[in-house]
Amino acid sequence: MPPRAAAPLIRLAERADLSFVHATERLPGYERLTAAWTTAEHEAALARDDTRYLVGGRDAGVLEGFAILQPLEDPHEGAKLKRICVARAGEGFGGPFLEAVIRWVFTTTSNDRLWLDVFTHNERARHVYRRAGLREDGLLREAYRMPDGTRADRCIMSVLRREWADR
Ligand SMILES: CC(C)(COP(=O)(O)OP(=O)(O)OC[C@H]1O[C@@H](n2cnc3c(N)ncnc32)[C@H](O)[C@@H]1OP(=O)(O)O)[C@@H](O)C(=O)NCCC(=O)NCCS
Repeated sequence: MPPRAAAPLIRLAERADLSFVHATERLPGYERLTAAWTTAEHEAALARDDTRYLVGGRDAGVLEGFAILQPLEDPHEGAKLKRICVARAGEGFGGPFLEAVIRWVFTTTSNDRLWLDVFTHNERARHVYRRAGLREDGLLREAYRMPDGTRADRCIMSVLRREWADR
């Protein structure tokens, strides 16, 4: 098992980071795990007031992962983690990066909840989310049409501010 990474450095993404985002979400095998946007879609999303992109790595200047928060704030549902991807899955970066993203949300915004949805077949991501304190809220049965036409279940997961604060 790879050693757990030190706390990653994270920052808000800039337009120049979108090539990393675009390439990372298209890594082989990711097409069954996450959606991918065109560069134009990313540029439009980055410009939105209700969206934030975070990028991070263990060393300054070397990007290893990104996360998209959209919407950034909602008085009812909270922040949605729309997407999270790392450049080298399973090497111990994504867990600490997710924890840094959650910390950023609860220390930078007034959200009381962070949530996401994940394909039930994405066991690695579900494990990482559970380990970061997210709980399963419910199941959206066959609520996504995969590129090959099959349908996939999605699981809603969330963590509340008070749960994060108590960890
Ligand atoms: C999800 C993602 C961000 C997690 O980051 P990561 O760097 O791979 O995660 P880590 O290496 O920190 O941890 C992986 C954990 O999953 C576990 N794992 C690996 N494969 C697994 C599987 N098939 N089932 C269950 N757990 C698994 C590992 O053992 C490890 O857990 P541990 O540290 O408790 O032993 C990353 O895998 C990724 O970018 N995946 C592709 C895109 C994606 O799925 N995004 C999420 C869409 S909702």
